[in-house]
Amino acid sequence: MLILGIESSCDECAASVVEDGRRILSDIVATQIPFHEKYRGVVPEIASRKHSEWIADVVAKALGDAGLGPSDLDGIAATSRPGLVGSLLVGLCFAKGMAWALDKPFVGVNHILAHLYAPQLVEDIPYPFIGLLVSGGHTIICKVLDFDRIEVLGTTIDDAAGEAFDKIAKHYGFGYPGGVAIDALAKEGDADAFRFPKPSLHKGEHRYDVSYSGLKTAVVHQLEQYRRPGAEATPENIAASFQKAAVDILLSRLLRALEDTGLRRVVAGGGVAANSYLRAALARHGDIEASFPPPRLCGDNGAMVAGIAFRYLERGESSGLDLGVSARVPIFRRLSQA
Ligand code: KG4
Ligand code: ZN
Repeated sequence: MLILGIESSCDECAASVVEDGRRILSDIVATQIPFHEKYRGVVPEIASRKHSEWIADVVAKALGDAGLGPSDLDGIAATSRPGLVGSLLVGLCFAKGMAWALDKPFVGVNHILAHLYAPQLVEDIPYPFIGLLVSGGHTIICKVLDFDRIEVLGTTIDDAAGEAFDKIAKHYGFGYPGGVAIDALAKEGDADAFRFPKPSLHKGEHRYDVSYSGLKTAVVHQLEQYRRPGAEATPENIAASFQKAAVDILLSRLLRALEDTGLRRVVAGGGVAANSYLRAALARHGDIEASFPPPRLCGDNGAMVAGIAFRYLERGESSGLDLGVSARVPIFRRLSQA
């Protein structure tokens, strides 16, 4: 089955053709980073306008690279939720239009589930496992029971993990996107130069939750207070110490989730899953099997959309052409059909 997947939930205009939910025949990601860089953050109005300018070419290139024409497709999928509404609408309407014109099935895809599916494009990972979805908009620690069923254990009570990287980088002018800039700077820095505080969410419903507001305040407003005597406040040291603190917060919750559920496998996804300190820290835990998609599949891409859509179509499920978009999806703290 040949599926075209379109992703336009944020600032990547992406399309890909995937065969049978696994074999990536083409993978086009047109990034809008240069257009948002000077604002040091994604500007929704610019994002949706660029998507509408680019979408036809991106889809044509994805089909061309795969050596296919539109009529060869068996289905067309697009991200429908969550994300920037104006951006989502471009990809969704384009996909619905193609599906209608070609009389092919259409599938609207949940972006969170698509990220968690991404590693399945390169290896066959048996369910269940613990999912760690860390991006600019989401921080989710969950039990992944199947491609379409997750049980959310923890999330963030304030900023998403990537958002925290982006805000620190923006404040100090480290570069854009913040996570990429901090990861690079941190390689030259001392992660123990500053000892930043950790959130104290340990009980009840917050057992697996993370929080970044305290860390953000410490790094932005109280830097001196946490500096180790003799350590210098260089960009490299600030980046390395912040990165360590931010990732250690995630790791502590992740280890808790693994211990409590008895599961040993972690599958990470989302832009922050490309972080080198996170990858190295998990690799040091010999008893944890960690699967990270290759960096290209960590960020937003069309292949994860086409891949997961195949699973739905294989089951005979598709979406109606009246499907709309939504900015948010409810995060239930119980078994949920997300
Ligand atoms: O999944 P993604 O491409 O887009 C969504 O937010 O859905 O994630 C983008 C986020 C940004 O916040 C970016 O700063 C962060 O991922 N990021 C990183 C790294 N690469 C990207 N954060 C930490 N370390 C990285 N190497
Ligand atoms: Zn994403």
